[in-house]
Amino acid sequence: MIPQNYDVIIIGAGAAGLMCAATAGYRGRRVLVIDHANKPGKKILMSGGGRCNFTNLNSTPANFLSDNPHYCISALKRYTPQHFLDLVERHGIEHEEKAAGQLFCKDSSKEILNMLLTECEWAGAEVRLKTSVKTISGDDHGYQLQTSSGTLTCESLVIACGGLSIPTMGATGFGYDIARQFGLSVLPTRAGLVPFTLHPELKEQLAPLSGVSCPVDVNCNNEHFREPMLVTHRGLSGPSMLQISSFWRPGDSLNINMLPATTIEKDLHDLRKSRPQSTIAQYLAQHLPKRFAQALNDLHGWAGPLQGYKNSDIEQAARTLDQWTIKPAGTEGYRTAEVTLGGVDTRQLSSKTMAVLDRPDLYFIGEVVDVTGHLGGHNFQWAWASGVASGNDA
Ligand code: FDA
Repeated sequence: MIPQNYDVIIIGAGAAGLMCAATAGYRGRRVLVIDHANKPGKKILMSGGGRCNFTNLNSTPANFLSDNPHYCISALKRYTPQHFLDLVERHGIEHEEKAAGQLFCKDSSKEILNMLLTECEWAGAEVRLKTSVKTISGDDHGYQLQTSSGTLTCESLVIACGGLSIPTMGATGFGYDIARQFGLSVLPTRAGLVPFTLHPELKEQLAPLSGVSCPVDVNCNNEHFREPMLVTHRGLSGPSMLQISSFWRPGDSLNINMLPATTIEKDLHDLRKSRPQSTIAQYLAQHLPKRFAQALNDLHGWAGPLQGYKNSDIEQAARTLDQWTIKPAGTEGYRTAEVTLGGVDTRQLSSKTMAVLDRPDLYFIGEVVDVTGHLGGHNFQWAWASGVASGNDA
């Protein structure tokens, strides 16, 4: 069969790959995006609870984790959240700001995917699904790919295969394999933005609270997040836990301030004076969902009215509440993680074009590289920004 020739081939029809395809297509490049899945952009569809938190207006490089923290700055500066918002608005997609800066579709994530596919169509970029790559070879003239839909050749090859999170959605380590094939180093990967699992005893104690959420301030490894925590039947989730999971390592403890908006010790002293018959459970119930307050109280065995508490008892109770220490058993891993930390070492890539420094026609973009955002639209912003940076060069 005669090889089908393109200027640019992109492996991965996800957020970064589609953005790169449209950008390169508008430059007049003949672009093909291939994906082994039966649908493009599956993670876009499932993101943000079906409403896609497509960017964050407050996104800065400080919202990203990387072994090479300066790498992401250039691309993020050149393609900002406002650029993506302008695109969304040009397509008439209604959106809303949920938490500070976090922009979601009002209706459905489908609108973002349809927008990207429309952009690809307008730019003349072809998207071919159910196509798996068997081998890739590269020389000075470009790349040859043996695929399930025949032999493909191109001048520029863009790897946008994403990370390992949610294998049931088509995630594979293929991008890392390609990086290694071309002599690049891949930093160890681990699941990020992922719920914690608990040891059986604590899990059992918290089980009745499954579904209850409350605002906390969680601290681990000198990072902290003040956002809601959700107890699930498997462990701890909710934005605060997902955020801190990216900084947590096996064996670490989490320090949780259960009442971050209060001055617990002073409140308890004041309460003992003004209403000595009050209990800690009653105090907790003023600030936390009732079920949660009672369970937390029972967990720590606080009983009787505050008038029976010595100053040292109050200090101890306050410390327990503002530094509740929990050692998670682990995380739910890639099965439910929103992102993969680590990946292709960015020290080998150009921060301007996303291309390999000594192979300027091979690009790595999106989640496959060692750039991982906080929760809240930052990961898509990286996918868009790195997609545009590569699409302007490939
Ligand atoms: P992505 O994973 O999007 O795309 C990779 C593509 O490569 C896929 O289409 C895959 O099928 C294909 N592929 C993989 N292996 C291949 C192979 N061997 N051959 C061919 N194709 C292959 N972020 C955010 O900012 N806001 C949000 O609301 C959310 N919500 C969210 C929810 C959930 C449940 C998850 C799992 C993730 C999020 N995220 C998020 C994270 C976000 O989805 C993620 O950062 C981006 O999708 C990464 O974009 P990429 O294009 O790099 O990879």
